[in-house]
Amino acid sequence: MSKPETIHWEGGADGTLYLIDQTLLPVEYRQLDYSKGCVEKVWEAIHSLRVRGAPAIGIAAAYGVCIGIQTVLDEMDEEKFFARFDEVTAYLASSRPTAVNLFWALDRMKEIAAAVKKLMDATQTFHPLEVANRLLMEARAIHEEDREICRAIGKHGAELLPDGAGVLTHCNAGGLATADYGTALATFFWAAEHGKKLHIYADETRPLLQGARLTAWELQQHGIPVTLICDNMAAQVMREGKIQAVVVGADRITANGDTANKIGTYSVACLAHLHGIPFYVAAPKSTFDLTLSTGDQIPIEQRSAREVTHGFGKQTAPEDVDVYNPAFDVTPAKYIAGIITENGVISPVTEENIRAMLED
Ligand code: MRU
Repeated sequence: MSKPETIHWEGGADGTLYLIDQTLLPVEYRQLDYSKGCVEKVWEAIHSLRVRGAPAIGIAAAYGVCIGIQTVLDEMDEEKFFARFDEVTAYLASSRPTAVNLFWALDRMKEIAAAVKKLMDATQTFHPLEVANRLLMEARAIHEEDREICRAIGKHGAELLPDGAGVLTHCNAGGLATADYGTALATFFWAAEHGKKLHIYADETRPLLQGARLTAWELQQHGIPVTLICDNMAAQVMREGKIQAVVVGADRITANGDTANKIGTYSVACLAHLHGIPFYVAAPKSTFDLTLSTGDQIPIEQRSAREVTHGFGKQTAPEDVDVYNPAFDVTPAKYIAGIITENGVISPVTEENIRAMLED
């Protein structure tokens, strides 16, 4: 199969959004299409992880705004037009709570809407299609920028990985989680493209198996050697000396460097610390949330018990058993050797270094 395009927009403001349904991979490759104002379906796609991974959620939400306002492309009443815009952005913001890229992308769309409105108000004109076109341009810009950002992250991160290293990753921070190329996986792709030989160990990532279904698949597509392990095997492979570095993605990084990522990341970081293995986080600047001082303030998404008791349609626990299913955890900054951004590597991870790198 040719290279998957995670997110794609076809046409103008009345166009169509295409997403790969990631819940079906790797068994089935299916593209879903969204158009005609059906923002509820885009919300559902984000909420149920058909599109997932922090940067991809942000891009999908930006295009989701364009889908949502398709119901008012002919609306000449400015107040009604912007009321729909506000409704759509607030609604999309409720799809998932942890990845800050969602709110970052929606804020960019809101800024554009406010700027265009101001200009039109100044000339006492209103052209709904012009506002919609400008919003689509912004969504496309968010999408395109992410491609560049991922490559820069790949380049900076690859330098940290020794030739011949075994590298562990958790969840999926690849092309499927971004515009393409990824964040954590970008470091492996760049290293491989520049002649380094790595062997990747992919945690399967219970309960939704993003590591098994998506990371193992993406690495296979790129011809990078990958060994799949169950989450509870990480300590053993480290003890056997198979791992020289860990690289993971992030959903939100606070001012002090504490990092939320897929549930299980924190235990991998503790294990890496115990074994003296450097633990790196790869993330774009849009994943930082400097309004929060520490990771304790990050909202952690709680998901349905059925993901744990009835994974992929098969019951694996007694009916009505009590379940706790947080989708993310927070790794304290002290366990992170470096944060790989598009601007370079933040190391040591301190608030001062983070602020200096983000201002760059
Ligand atoms: O629940 P998911 O699959 O959206 O969680 C994804 C992750 O935790 C990723 O590691 C993170 O979003 C970074 S993606 C570049």
